[in-house]
Amino acid sequence: MNATDFAAIETHAAQLAKSTLLDLFAADPKRVERLTINAPHLIADFSKQRIDAKALDLLAQLAERADFDGWRGRLFAGEAVNNTEGRAAKHWLLRAGDAPAEVHEVRARMAAFAKRIRPEINAIVHLGIGGSDLGPRLVLDALKPLRVAGIDVRFAANVDGADVADAIDGLDPKRTLLIVVSKTFTTQETLANADVVRAWGPAHLAAATAAPDKAVAWGVPAENVFAFWDWVGGRYSLWSSVGLACAVALQDGAFEGLLAGAAEMDAHFRDTPFTRNLPAVSAAVQMWNREALGHGSYALIPYAERLRLMPAYMQQLEMESNGKRVSRDGEALERSACGVTWGAAGTNAQHSFFQLLHQGVGEIPVEFIVNAGAHEGPASHRAKVFANALAQTRALMVGKSAAQARAEMVAKGMSEAEANRLAPHRAFPGNRASTLMAIDALTPEALGALLAFYEHRTFAQAVLAGINPFDQWGVELGKEMANALLPALEGGAASPDLDASTAAWVERLR
Ligand code: F6P
Repeated sequence: MNATDFAAIETHAAQLAKSTLLDLFAADPKRVERLTINAPHLIADFSKQRIDAKALDLLAQLAERADFDGWRGRLFAGEAVNNTEGRAAKHWLLRAGDAPAEVHEVRARMAAFAKRIRPEINAIVHLGIGGSDLGPRLVLDALKPLRVAGIDVRFAANVDGADVADAIDGLDPKRTLLIVVSKTFTTQETLANADVVRAWGPAHLAAATAAPDKAVAWGVPAENVFAFWDWVGGRYSLWSSVGLACAVALQDGAFEGLLAGAAEMDAHFRDTPFTRNLPAVSAAVQMWNREALGHGSYALIPYAERLRLMPAYMQQLEMESNGKRVSRDGEALERSACGVTWGAAGTNAQHSFFQLLHQGVGEIPVEFIVNAGAHEGPASHRAKVFANALAQTRALMVGKSAAQARAEMVAKGMSEAEANRLAPHRAFPGNRASTLMAIDALTPEALGALLAFYEHRTFAQAVLAGINPFDQWGVELGKEMANALLPALEGGAASPDLDASTAAWVERLR
């Protein structure tokens, strides 16, 4: 994407910025209908975003110039779209009906293992980090009502020993299954934690890895090693044997339901033209907000307690994929390819950083997710969750003028002088953008579709920016330096070529 590609978009964004969001609604009675997109298990309303039909048209043209159709075709053809590692990115194949025999074979072994092991255990300790942790952790949290009774699932990812200590605390090793999840089986944190748990003596060991020989050499019985392949990227790997804890700890059929829902979203993304394609349009809106309107981050707010881990999951998916500064061909990018993803579950977030969203200087677009289906707990809570989510999207957009705030205070009996003094504090600028999305229910299928939606949106963002989303070289330098610093921190000689600050900290901490 070069400057010329973007000029028309910037001009139109500047034009639209002269109107408020409410003006845009007034100008087009069909706005909600036009800017609402349906996909399997998921509906998204972009009408409270600062876009219109022309903006979408310009973004569609940009996608065409970025060869969106071509790249999408290459993804689904299994070409080596990860061009710095010479690999395909075929996570979608893990959930396809016509997946290759090796995929079916591992899936069948996982299901058989789940059936065999459940009566022998009352706990699973899942060790992995990043893509080998976040997906299963999220799914098991989100689908808690579908958990097999009597199996506690613990996770540890952090190399801080407190994490693994908590993970095994109170468990009986004789009834525990340890699952070591690592694509490479070389990750420092995971292996350090795995050594601790193995020494504690769990009755059963299993592994999910693309390096089965290493897992066997470490001590996992070969029959309990579940492979996946180098064409599955870490943060796209939930659907592989990385989901073993889900297959064991969720009732039969749930993991398959997750895959089936994701496959439905794959078909939507693969077969739908850009302007009705939910991941593609959502990616375009993100780019619009970031690059045309200058909003460098967005807040992801699931109004669903069971989706509370979504922000953490999405931080890895989006920022590890698209946090890049060079194009696929190594050219410096003129624009950023990725914003900052952050957030927390509503309503809790309302009592925390929503103050900044409503009244801080500058706008941060928000993405809300609600569960339109059945809710757990008292029936009356469901309406309260929705009332809060809708109120927030509306309050961000509508705001409250100082005059209105002043009038309300005076109507309640406050003096004019006091009302004038407080009005600026109690006014809301409004005109702040958000997207509202709903899953049809919190089922395995809908969750699978939601996560696949985000995978494809991340890919579509990368295509629009012209980058490769499937490598992550940016995590390597820190790993190398940690390995180099370790001997000194373990009491050995400090490396002579350290900068003065780091050298002082090594002395202080060793
Ligand atoms: O953080 C870098 C990373 O390589 C992620 O991409 C990956 O999900 C994680 O580390 C764990 O890697 P592995 O599964 O090989 O242990």
